[in-house]
Amino acid sequence: MDLRAPSPHRLINGRCVRPLASAAMDVEIAIRTRRTHKAYASKPVARETLSELLDLARWAPNHNLTNPWRFRVVGPKALERLKLAAGPEAATKLDRAPSLVVCSAALSGDELTDEEDLHATANAAYIVLLAAHSRGLVGYWRTPGVLRTPEGQRAVGLEPNERFVGLLYLGHPVQEQSPPERAPAADVITFLD
Ligand SMILES: Cc1cc2nc3c(=O)[nH]c(=O)nc-3n(C[C@H](O)[C@H](O)[C@H](O)COP(=O)(O)O)c2cc1C
Repeated sequence: MDLRAPSPHRLINGRCVRPLASAAMDVEIAIRTRRTHKAYASKPVARETLSELLDLARWAPNHNLTNPWRFRVVGPKALERLKLAAGPEAATKLDRAPSLVVCSAALSGDELTDEEDLHATANAAYIVLLAAHSRGLVGYWRTPGVLRTPEGQRAVGLEPNERFVGLLYLGHPVQEQSPPERAPAADVITFLD
């Protein structure tokens, strides 16, 4: 697959190095070149940029327009509480990225709506990662055990009706990341008669 982008966008080692415009091809490049990064520069993501990413996430598809997604940008005090809840070993992994966002879904208790709202929230989380990538940032969707515990959920203020979906790590890149294998398209696509 030829991933070369039309001017002014360029790909270096498979990574799009210019912000995206609105053309469909640019979206395809972003989708193909976004990678999970687990190492970051120390510089935090600007608050304004975080606001842009989370604002964009609201445009995820959403049945019945329930707006189920919730995002909490983790500040220094919340990070300390979360690290305390995680314990010393797991806490070190929470220091990897300069910016962390807890993504959760506010659920109603209706089984079908909740299933769809979880899907919608996962889409919203992906938008955050994709939009971060399009701005030259990198990220990582993590599901650490601490955020499945009552202590961890309390540390970041999750309400009883909220389901934890992902802890989004965001930051500036320090290295290239090679793409992990995907199953060939033919293995997962069926055109039904
Ligand atoms: C719902 C979800 C949960 C994930 N949780 C973790 C995690 O806890 N730890 C981890 O290393 N990666 C986690 N990931 C990231 C995947 O490991 C990663 O997307 C996968 O290796 C493919 O790499 P790529 O993102 O560069 O395409 C998660 C991804 C998703 C969608």
